[in-house]
Amino acid sequence: MRTAEISDEIIGRRIASPVYSKDGYLLLSQGSIVNDKILSKLEHHAISTVKILDSLSEGIEPTGIIEEKQMVESIRVVKNVFENVLYNEANGVSTAIPPDQMDLVEEVIQSLIDALEKTENLLYTVVEMLDTTEYTYKHSVNVAILSILTAKAMNYDTPDIKNIALGAFLHDVGKMVNDQDLINKPGKLTLEERKKIEEHPQYGFNIVKDISNLPYTVKQIVLLHHEKLDGSGYPFGLKGIEIPEFVRIVTVCDMYDAMTTDRIYRGKMPIYTTLEILMTDAVYKIDRNIYRHMTENICIYPPGSGVVLSDGRVGIVSFYRATNPVRPHVRVIDINTDLLNMQVVEVNLEKEHTMFVIDTWDVNQFKKGFKPKTKPKSSLRSQIDDEVNEMIEEVQNVPIVTDKGKVLQLFIEDTKTEAI
Ligand SMILES: [Fe+2]
Repeated sequence: MRTAEISDEIIGRRIASPVYSKDGYLLLSQGSIVNDKILSKLEHHAISTVKILDSLSEGIEPTGIIEEKQMVESIRVVKNVFENVLYNEANGVSTAIPPDQMDLVEEVIQSLIDALEKTENLLYTVVEMLDTTEYTYKHSVNVAILSILTAKAMNYDTPDIKNIALGAFLHDVGKMVNDQDLINKPGKLTLEERKKIEEHPQYGFNIVKDISNLPYTVKQIVLLHHEKLDGSGYPFGLKGIEIPEFVRIVTVCDMYDAMTTDRIYRGKMPIYTTLEILMTDAVYKIDRNIYRHMTENICIYPPGSGVVLSDGRVGIVSFYRATNPVRPHVRVIDINTDLLNMQVVEVNLEKEHTMFVIDTWDVNQFKKGFKPKTKPKSSLRSQIDDEVNEMIEEVQNVPIVTDKGKVLQLFIEDTKTEAI
């Protein structure tokens, strides 16, 4: 199976995985054949992608680390909580999250932790689903999942993992107090607009600060998740050890998910490019130990994704081993045949030691005779919007205090003075 965008191209294709509405209702069962009526239904419910079966992807199993139904339910809870804050803010009443909603949030977090206990042979992949306008809610769940995996890899104990996940789940709740047109504004923000958005951690803290039974660590995550090790973050410009490690976990996972997710106004960045940019451009902003533990859990080439091999052939990933994710099995395709008659050849990069993946391509582009469009890193870099730029903007010439109290003096030029 593979993920396909909703368009005429999927008419006649078989649905490989159940499709749920944003409210969690089943819209389409597995096995349905897409026709005009089904296509309209999917469009009506603003579903942007579905899983389909064709010869390109036959036999490729889904490897989402969390089942889609659980993702939908988790997103529904975060959406209810956040929209309640939005409603109360608009009506001038207290925006504090009520106890019954906090109980639901805790239930969702516990069920995510439980589900991730059973995924030993799977790495993190983003579940391709829902509309990009649902970004903030989906992002909150993704950051929670990635934070749980990272904290587990760092040997945090279960109560701490739960608090980190709660903080990740709620980290952007303050954005509900911001002007929503500003939050969803495509393209470049003015300095004044950036300053407004940068108030969201403080707003978020105000929303959670008086919730009894909510540990202070969770509240700190909401308040400090945009602080950076080099002091260039906000709201306080804290440096190094002034930022607790559990906050830094959410910061790194937040950056990763923001870069690898589709937005209304830009496409997602390939996983390997994101990891490279985080490691090079943001190296003095993020905790390298946390970055290393996070990347251990990430599936770089998820099954169903398009890759270009070093000999120039193109294919889609059919399988990966969690212990060796950079050398997946690749189904090489003949670009001169159509999907219904295609003969595919499987290349196992675990055995073909002289061959490797050099790029990725969007499987949705596939048509008979196509040439995959891959993008050089420089062009991807120029697509980065303000939100991501703020996260990875190059370091200032400031000393950094590490966990061990060692001061690193940096002499790196700041080349992007227009960014905050
Ligand atoms: Fe944020």
